[in-house]
Amino acid sequence: MSKSKEKMHVDPYEKIYIYISIVVLIVFATAVTVAGFALGIQVPSPSQRVDPNTVAIEGPFSDPGLRELAPGKYELYIRAEAVPWRFYPDKVTVPAGSTVTFYVTSADVQHGFNLQNTNINFMVLPGQVSTLTYTFKEVGEYPFICTEYCGVGHQNMYGVITVE
Ligand code: CUA
Repeated sequence: MSKSKEKMHVDPYEKIYIYISIVVLIVFATAVTVAGFALGIQVPSPSQRVDPNTVAIEGPFSDPGLRELAPGKYELYIRAEAVPWRFYPDKVTVPAGSTVTFYVTSADVQHGFNLQNTNINFMVLPGQVSTLTYTFKEVGEYPFICTEYCGVGHQNMYGVITVE
């Protein structure tokens, strides 16, 4: 019998690990498939697209800020800009109990938006609008910061939402 026809020797412990690995892969592949197709859990996708070249000149982001839709219901448009590394606006005041839908975009490079002590935390990409809704039940100051390194003034990108 030639050597090549011999059955490959696999250590019994190694065999167990191979079987466990195969089972784990099948479980993960099934979990991802079920989450994606049966439960409809998808990675975030842009809710709106805008032209970063004109976003500061025309459209809602050219006049960013708070808009009252109904009593206690607001839309907040924020434009992030590198040079001079600012959020427009960077100071916003809303009454306690307000529900605010954030629309944030960038006029240039990639920024981030994290509203501290809330679940509002997303990337801000040129050409796309990031959006999330939050209800401010507690009175206080909610600082927000840029969470993506966007140039030498990155650390100057912050603001605050005051709930009173
Ligand atoms: Cu904007 Cu970092």
